[in-house]
Parts: sequence; C-alpha cells; structure tokens
Amino acid sequence: MTTHTDDTPNTPTTTVLVTSATGKTGRRVAERLTARGAAVRAGSRRGATVFDWEDPETWAPALRDADAAYVAYYPDLAAPGAVGAMDAFGRLAVENGVRRLTLLSGRGEPAAVLAEEALRAAAPGAELTVVRASFFAQNFSEGLLAEGVAEGAVVFPAGDAAEPFIDADDLADVVVETLTTDGHAGRVHEVTGPRPVGFAEVAAEISRASGRPVVYRPVSEGEYAGLLTGFGLPVPEAEWLAALFATLLDGHNASATDGVKRILGREPRSFADFAAGVWGVRGA
Ligand SMILES: NC(=O)c1ccc[n+]([C@@H]2O[C@H](COP(=O)([O-])OP(=O)(O)OC[C@H]3O[C@@H](n4cnc5c(N)ncnc54)[C@H](OP(=O)(O)O)[C@@H]3O)[C@@H](O)[C@H]2O)c1
Repeated sequence: MTTHTDDTPNTPTTTVLVTSATGKTGRRVAERLTARGAAVRAGSRRGATVFDWEDPETWAPALRDADAAYVAYYPDLAAPGAVGAMDAFGRLAVENGVRRLTLLSGRGEPAAVLAEEALRAAAPGAELTVVRASFFAQNFSEGLLAEGVAEGAVVFPAGDAAEPFIDADDLADVVVETLTTDGHAGRVHEVTGPRPVGFAEVAAEISRASGRPVVYRPVSEGEYAGLLTGFGLPVPEAEWLAALFATLLDGHNASATDGVKRILGREPRSFADFAAGVWGVRGA
C-alpha cells in the first residue's frame, strides 16, 4: 500500500477509515497513520467523520473510496449485535472499494471469534488481519478504571488473576504495521504485554509511580454489576459487562505471547514502564 510523501507528489494518498478514532486505540492509530502521510478519516459519533455503529446510514459515507479501514467495534466485539454489524460493515466496505481491513478483537473471547468470522465471510475480496489484544494498560489511565485509580482504589472482579496488559501504543504500532505493510492478510495476531501482572501488582506499580496509595479491592461479579448500575449503567448492560470481565480474567488469558516482538521486532512495554510514563516524574 502506497502513501503520499513530498518527494513523490504523484503517488496516490492512501485513505484509511479509523473507527473509534477518539478512543484509546483509534486515536493512536489515527496519529500514526497521519504521521506516515495517509489521509485519515477519523470516524466516531463525535469524530471529524460521523460514524455510529448504531446507525448504519453513517457507514457508507465514511467508507466511500477508502482504501483501508481500522475496525474497532464498540462496546466490545463479543457484544450482542457485533456479528450483524461485522456482516453488514464488511459487505459495505468491499462495495466501497476498501481493500485492506484490520479488525481489533479480544483475546480468549469465543463470542468475538464469531464476529471475526462474520467480517471475514462478508469481505472475501479484502485483505483482513485480526489483532486479538489482551486487556489494555490504558484501562487504568483512560478507561473505566481511571476514576477509581484517581481515588486510590482499583475495584474489579478479577480475584487474584494475572493479565499480560498491553500498552495501547504498542497495539497501535501493530495495527499500523498491518495496515501499511504486506504479509498480514489472513493472519490472526495475538498481542500482549511482556508478562502476566496481577491486579495487586498493578495497584502497587501505580502507587510506586505516583507516590500516593492505590490499593486493589477484588469484588465479586455481582458486586461489580451493582457498582456499575450505581454509576448509571442499565442493569442488563452492567450484568453483561461484569460477566465479560469475570470470564476474561478467570485465568485462561494469563499467558503472554510474543506477538509484538514478531510483528514489530522489539519487546512490548512493561506495565511498570507504562505506569512510570503516566503517573511518574516523566508523566502527568
Ligand atoms: N479495553 C480493552 O482492554 C480491550 C481489549 C481487547 C479488545 N478491546 C476491544 O476494543 C474495543 C473497545 O475499546 P475500548 O473499550 O478501549 O473503548 P475506546 O476505543 O477507548 O472508546 C470508545 C470509542 O468508541 C467510540 N464509540 C462509542 N460508541 C460508539 C458508537 N455507537 N459508534 C461508533 N463509535 C462509538 C467513541 O467515540 P465517540 O464517543 O466519539 O463515538 C470512542 O472513540 C472493543 O471492540 C473491544 O472488543 C478492548
């Protein structure tokens, strides 16, 4: 895939639709693609290009004449509705000339695999790469755990499970590599951080980096669903989300992969380095 540079003025510019472009991965993917000279359509409900997974009318205008797309479904690729959305989106993407797709998926999520298959079946003419990621380190700094961290507690239904948290910057580097270089079509890349880290260690690392006390308070799935409804989430969504986290963090995802090293030729960032970057002297 070619991108425009100043010394090759006649080279066509690659146009990439980036979904979830205001989110943890989409924002980083958009920044990197823009830096490489691609024309980025920053798609989301509030993005420069209006794109709403709940409103298929917004999809075709965002896809029109795009060469490639980064597909990050919201709220989760394992959510009800994702299979139908991937089917319809894949067909439209091919109809609109998209030749390369990178789909963000979750690691160890059987329901997400069904959505991956739906996109693959709907877009047989496109080069599809699936990137299955572990839990993001940025869930603690930009995501749903950030508020608790700011108040000194990581409250989560993860028991003593460990997770090889991936830094969203590493994940974005992987996504951009799959969108801009050959050899990834048809592949499923599983990417994680360098080693499993327990939630008590997460709290300790944030504490160490920030210099203020942060503790881990494990809760049951039911308690967590109750907390989410207390924050205003409708009961079915709260119960679904609590069950998803409890399942993801039951230990079956605890091992690290060498995906980042294989694709980028370098080690992924550790949780300790991530925490130092966000909360330490070098961070905010
Ligand atoms: N978080 C993790 O640890 C993790 C791990 C593996 C895989 N994933 C995958 O990552 C995706 C979710 O990422 P995230 O939880 O980190 O969220 P996120 O990308 O940080 O934030 C949500 C993004 O989705 C957009 N969005 C929200 N509702 C939308 C809608 N109806 N239509 C279009 N865009 C919408 C938001 O923009 P606007 O508000 O502007 O619309 C924002 O850009 C899921 O596909 C999930 O399977 C997440």
